[in-house]
Amino acid sequence: MYWEALNRKQILEKVDNALSNNASYSKGEVIGAPATYLDKKEFYPDASFLKDAPYLKTLIANPNHIGCHTLDKQSSPIFKGTQAIERELIEICAEQIFRAPAKQVDGYVATGGTEANIEAMWIYRNYFLKEYRASADQIGVLFSEDTHYSISKGCDLLQLFPLKMSVNSKTRQIDAIKLTQLIDQANKQGIKYFIVICNLSTTMFGSIDEIEPIVKVLDAKKLSFKLHIDAAFGGFIYPFTNPKSNHNFSNPWVSSVSIDGHKMLQTPYGTGIFLIRKGFMQYVTNKNAQYVPGLDYTLCGSRSGANAIVIWMQLMNYGSKGWIEKMNELIDRTDYLCNELERLNIDFYRNPFINIVTIKANHISTELASKYELVADSYEQFPLWWKIVVMDHVSKDLLKSFIKDLENCKVEA
Ligand SMILES: Cc1ncc(COP(=O)(O)O)c(C=O)c1O
Repeated sequence: MYWEALNRKQILEKVDNALSNNASYSKGEVIGAPATYLDKKEFYPDASFLKDAPYLKTLIANPNHIGCHTLDKQSSPIFKGTQAIERELIEICAEQIFRAPAKQVDGYVATGGTEANIEAMWIYRNYFLKEYRASADQIGVLFSEDTHYSISKGCDLLQLFPLKMSVNSKTRQIDAIKLTQLIDQANKQGIKYFIVICNLSTTMFGSIDEIEPIVKVLDAKKLSFKLHIDAAFGGFIYPFTNPKSNHNFSNPWVSSVSIDGHKMLQTPYGTGIFLIRKGFMQYVTNKNAQYVPGLDYTLCGSRSGANAIVIWMQLMNYGSKGWIEKMNELIDRTDYLCNELERLNIDFYRNPFINIVTIKANHISTELASKYELVADSYEQFPLWWKIVVMDHVSKDLLKSFIKDLENCKVEA
C-alpha cells in the first residue's frame, strides 16, 4: 500500500485546477442544468477564508457528481474536473487500500454505509435475476447476527430473504455448524442463491467475520453466491493496522466493499464509498436516466462532488504512511484501555486491529455509562454490552479518567 502525501499548497492547486476544469455557474457557462452555486446570501463567495479552503470552495461551487464515473461511458462534461478527482479517489481506495489489480474496480462516493450496502445487494439481486433467471424469493442474504441494520433494511426494500447467521458469544465468529443448518433449511424453502455480507468490523463489537469458513460451507454445497464486505466502520483502519488482511480484492471471493469516510477517516457525513469489481455496476443501469450523460447506476442520484474532494483531500493530507501511523496510534491507546480492563478483571470483547472495546454490562453502572456516553447494544431492552470507540478525541487522559471511575464504580444488582 502506498500513496504520497501532498502539502496544503499542492492540494489547493489540484482542487483549484479541477474546479477550473468544471464548467462554472458563476462565469455563466451553464444554462441547461436545474442547478447553480449555493445561494450567495447564505454562502457568500467573497469570504476571505475560502481561498485557502478547497473543500468549502467546492461545496459552494456545487458540482453534481450524479452517476458513476469509473465506467467507460462518458459522464457529464460539466463537472469533468472534479469527477477526475473522484476517479483518482476510487482508484486509491480500490488498489492501494483494498488491493485490487489496476483498473479492475468501479465505484462511487455514496451517502454512507447504508447506501453502499444496499447498492451491493441491489446489484447482486439483479445479477441472480438476470444470469440465473432466479426469482426474488430464491435469493437469500446471509449476514451475522452482529451485522448493521442497513442489511435488514436492504432485505426489506429489495424483498430478499434475510438469513441471520449465529455467532459464538465469545469469539463473535460465525458458528459453522449452525450455518450449515441455516443453509439446509433455506434450501428446503427454495432459496438457491446467496448474497453474503461479511463485516470488516461490526458496529457493536468491532469483530471481523472470517470469510473462509462461510465460503467453505457454501462451496461444499456448490451454491452460487456473491460476497460483499461491509467495511463501513473498519475500512479506514483495519487494512492499515493489519497488513495481512485478506478482506480485500486480492481475495477472489470478495466482489464488493463499502467504506465510510465519515467514520474513521474523519470526513463530513455523506462520505461513503462503494467499490465493486468491474462488470457488475451494469446490473443496476437505469436506462430511463436519459438526460444524464452516461446514465445512472446509484441509489442516491444527485450528489455533491465536494464529498469526493474532501475524502481525497484527507487521504492526500496524510499519505499512506501518515495514515498507518495515525491508526496505529489509536490501536496503542485501545491496547492501553484493554490492559487496564484486564488488570481490573473486567470482561470485554476486542479485535486487536480495531479500536472498539465492548464491555459486559454487568461491570458498568448506568451513571458511568451516561457520564462517558457509552453506547449500549440495545436501548429497547436491558443492555448486555456497552461499547467504547477510541476515536481521535479519546485521549489517554480521558481513558485514564474512565478507568479511575470504573474502579470506583458500584453496579446495581
Ligand atoms: C458496520 C456498519 N455498516 C453500515 C453502517 C451504516 O453507515 P451509515 O450510517 O453511514 O449509513 C454502519 C454505521 O454505523 C456500520 O457500523
